[in-house]
Amino acid sequence: MTETRGADAPPSTPSPTAEEARALLRERFGVEPIGTWSAPGRVNLIGEHTDYNDGFVLPFAIQQRTHVALTPRADGVARIRVASTFDDASVEVALDELDVLFPDRRDEVPEWARYPLGVAWALLAASGTNASDVTGIDLAFASNVPVGAGLSSSAAIEGATAVALADAWAVSLDRVALARAGRVAENEAVGAPTGIMDQMAALLGRADAAIFLDCRSLDTEVVDLGFEAAGLELVVIDTGVTHAHSTGGYGERRAACERGAAALGVPALRDVSLGDLDRLATLVDDVTFRRVRHVVTENQRVLDTVRTLRESGPTAIGDLLVASHASMRDDFEISVPELDTAVEAALSAGAVGARMTGGGFGGAAIALVAHDRVDQVRDAATAAFAASGFAAPTIFTVVPSSGAARD
Ligand code: GLA
Repeated sequence: MTETRGADAPPSTPSPTAEEARALLRERFGVEPIGTWSAPGRVNLIGEHTDYNDGFVLPFAIQQRTHVALTPRADGVARIRVASTFDDASVEVALDELDVLFPDRRDEVPEWARYPLGVAWALLAASGTNASDVTGIDLAFASNVPVGAGLSSSAAIEGATAVALADAWAVSLDRVALARAGRVAENEAVGAPTGIMDQMAALLGRADAAIFLDCRSLDTEVVDLGFEAAGLELVVIDTGVTHAHSTGGYGERRAACERGAAALGVPALRDVSLGDLDRLATLVDDVTFRRVRHVVTENQRVLDTVRTLRESGPTAIGDLLVASHASMRDDFEISVPELDTAVEAALSAGAVGARMTGGGFGGAAIALVAHDRVDQVRDAATAAFAASGFAAPTIFTVVPSSGAARD
């Protein structure tokens, strides 16, 4: 079916970031793109560190996107070249070398290039395609998803690469399979032990809606957010404190969750209910107990948020967001002073709710705010950061947007 525009519809303006990707492809490789594809970053509304525990999450895709310009090689050479506006040097690998590099020799690949090359590798494996059966390819990336802000710039690269390569190589995998390939790239090619939430949000996002994801079955439901209709805006307060999930705290939290599940004799914390917590307290140390309590209560908060959104709309979810933040601060201990300051400032300026979003140890807080209070929240956060001697935060609003697609 061909889609036609209504006679009155304005012509779509090409995104400047897509244009940047096109220009980069021409400049670095001297070839003309056959098209651009893109995938969004994401905000997780609620459900943090529940994904790798087989639990529930409620992310939404945002309007900031990573674009990739692509062209298949015309010379029959079976190599993949990647370029990014983030690095002056391009990276080139033989397609049949991907299997050699990942996962064991990933250190030989510059870190940024492990994302797209890792997706190429994972996509071929997932579809059972031989590297010798696909054409060589050139890719160039440009992005306006803030990096290190907990908004999943990495899943945006993975999602854009996955949809672009799936089209170019005529690999028939559904969206969930593409998200899985993105996660394999992140876990094995990059080496970050993350769950699948970010890739699912990047692939399945919908305008004005969140994706309620069961991370065990990978079943999804679209949940209308209705922020605009309720007169609300979603404000992001990026603390500028950068995090990396391939090191340190993220992996430790994951290990604590696995210890907790093992102590209770269940496959994952998804299988632990609030009523099991008393028994757990007698089985594990206090730190492990609090890590588990965060995950178990957070799973319940996701379910409560979905129900509340459906029954009462977004203005009613504020307390759940605030409780989620407190649990991450006190039980999971992944907040930092800048995130707590951002949340407290937003709430004191009248936000409906606020919490840190993403993996933690830095990144951004989100605040759900009535239109006419956005300026107050912005001023309050800026003033609170200055008063604490923190570098000024970057504050902007995001809009729930659609997932990965050809531009
Ligand atoms: C990071 C990971 C996700 C998820 C969140 C925490 O964003 O990539 O898989 O675990 O942290 O909720």
